[in-house]
Formats: sequence, structure tokens, C-alpha cells
Amino acid sequence: MPVITNIQDLKRIYERRVPRMFFDYAESGSWTEQTFRENTSDFEQIRLRQRVAVDMSGRSTAAQMIGEEVSMPVALAPVGLTGMQHADGEIKAAKAAEDFGVPFTLSTMSINSIEDVAEATTKPFWFQLYTMNDEDYVRRLIQRAKDAKCSALVITLDLQILGQRHKDLKNGLSAPPKLTPKTIANLMTKWAWGIEMLGAKRREFGNIVGHVEGISDASSLGAWTSEQFDLSLDWGKIAKLKEMWGGKVILKGILDAEDAKMAVKVGADAIVVSNHGGRQLDGALSSIRMLPQILDAVGGEVEVILDSGIRSGQDVLKSLAMGADGTMIGRAFVYGLGAMGQKGVTTALEVIHKELDTTMALCGERDIANLGRHNLLIPKGFEGEWQD
Ligand code: GLV
Repeated sequence: MPVITNIQDLKRIYERRVPRMFFDYAESGSWTEQTFRENTSDFEQIRLRQRVAVDMSGRSTAAQMIGEEVSMPVALAPVGLTGMQHADGEIKAAKAAEDFGVPFTLSTMSINSIEDVAEATTKPFWFQLYTMNDEDYVRRLIQRAKDAKCSALVITLDLQILGQRHKDLKNGLSAPPKLTPKTIANLMTKWAWGIEMLGAKRREFGNIVGHVEGISDASSLGAWTSEQFDLSLDWGKIAKLKEMWGGKVILKGILDAEDAKMAVKVGADAIVVSNHGGRQLDGALSSIRMLPQILDAVGGEVEVILDSGIRSGQDVLKSLAMGADGTMIGRAFVYGLGAMGQKGVTTALEVIHKELDTTMALCGERDIANLGRHNLLIPKGFEGEWQD
């Protein structure tokens, strides 16, 4: 067994183990991938202030996210098709998150269903909602999340239409994979993945298949989104969804100060500053670069979670020190899951925790709550010098 010391180690194993179409699905941004690249490279521009001769004993990364106790403020983001990265992927990731004491978010476009994850876990998880044209289906989906005792509804706002990721089209992405000569040739080199997948609870979109009728191709994310997603989603509809849910609501995909203010107005409990991992509007700025102006706009009236680009505990620390209340990781846990199943997700969380804790100590902080701008060196102009 190789020694895993960082997230990139997990990514290398993941790439070898998982069929190309699912690796490419996770590892792509839309169009030129500029935003996808900058989500990570912008973190590198922010530097840390080393402080010494500070008592490092009794450190704590414990915090709260939407009022829930967490061992570190890092939630697992909703990721579509997670159950294609590893057999029973959503169940395994949810269990790893539960054991580690961080929130897990189940995507509408998951393979394991809401009920599968609820049955396999003991603590409430968060459910991510895509809104669809079929209002009755949305109502039933929300009811299923309530019945499963989900503790928050995460409404994604930046994907009414799907950003184009070239590789998904070229690979014919589907769940389960369609057996073309190209996919068969690739699957033959991924036998361990295949054997486990034969024993998986599900290989189709578990929240959809069997719950809706008249879909032309229920295996294709592209077909489902273009036929079913609600193009007319607006703030009025968001307010109605919030009322229908009746519990905590997190609005995900906020990248603009004006939208952040609207989120406060509709009474969101938290917002997720996100560009969907660079998978939607290519050319948008990175989440970390947009964070300061969004924080200014909301003035502490809503909890702010930073998503997109986090691949290390140092990135988590930079986000928190910039002013975010919490963070989300997507690819960083998917690499672990694809590499080694539940154990891999635990390893990813351990790696991130260790990096966060060590960095905090070397910055002269003992409590995550005390992180702030004083820990950072931010280049001039980082927050943008854009014309009005
Ligand atoms: C959808 O959730 C995607 O980014 O593929």
C-alpha cells in the first residue's frame, strides 16, 4: 500500500482505478477551463504569515456549520454520479463524513438514493436540490428528504442549464456506462472497479429512476438536465421552495455580491460561494477572489461557505482567514473515494485536517475561530480591479 501524504497521492491512485469517463467527469471544467484552473491557482497567490513563540498546545479545529457541531468546518459538497466513482459511493462517503464529524451533502443526481444514505447513516445529512419542471416530482423529492430527516436543503442556483465539458460529450458520459468499443476497452483495464460495481446497490440515478416517468434517457446527465431542469427558477421560486421545506436552507452557487444580498433577503441560513468547481460559467472569477466582496455585501447576516478550488487544509485555512465561516470540498473527497472507497474519503479528511491544524499552529493560532486576515498576505489587486 503506497504511503499517502497528500490529496494528489489519492488523485493518482484514483486516476488508475476508475474508468476514464468518470475520472474525466470529475476532473473537467467547462469550455477552456480557465475558471477551473484559477480556482486552485488563486489560492496559491494568497500567502501565510508565520508567527513564532506562541503556545501551540490544546489546539482545536472544532466549529459549527449552520448550528451543527463539526470537527472542522469542511463539508462534503454535493457531487453528481458519486456512486460511479466507487460502488455505493454516496453511502461510503456519507459514512466517512459521519465518522469524521463533518456534514455530507447528497446530490439530487446521486446514484445511491436519499433512502439508501439515510438507512446507512445515523446522523442527519444535507440534501442538495435541483429544481425541475415537474413540480410534483420536486415536491415528492423534498418530502423524501424530510422523511430521511435531512438537516438542510442545499438549493443549487448555478445549474439550470449544464455548462459544456468537452470530455463528457466525447466520452458519452452515462450512468451506468454504455458499452461501446471504447468504453469496453477502458473498462477491461479497471477490473477491480468493475467487480465491486457488480455488487453495488445501484448503478443508475437512484433519486430519479423509478420515481419519474417519461424520461427519454435516464442514464444521461446531459439529457436529464436539458429536458427536466427548471429554466424559470428565480428568487420568487426559491422563497416558495424554502417555505415548502420549512427547515434550514443553504443557497449554493452564489458568486456575485448582488445575488448574495438577495440570498439574505429570502432568508437563507447560509450561502455557498461557488462557481460549481469551474464547471458552469467559464470566465467567471474564482470563488476565493470573489469572497471578500460577497462578505462585505452580506455583512455577517448570513453564514458564508466557500466552495471550488479547495485541495488542502491550507486552502481551508486561507478561506476561513479571508472570512468564510466554512468550506466545501468536492474533488478532494472524490479522489479519495475513487482511490480507496470509504477509507479513501477518511484519508482525504485526515490529510486536510492535519494540514489545517499544522498550518494553524505555524501561523501562531490555537483556535480556528481566531483565524483572520491578520494571518494572510494578500497580493494587491487580488480582490479585482475591474471596471464598473
Ligand atoms: C452537475 O452536478 C455537474 O457539475 O456535473
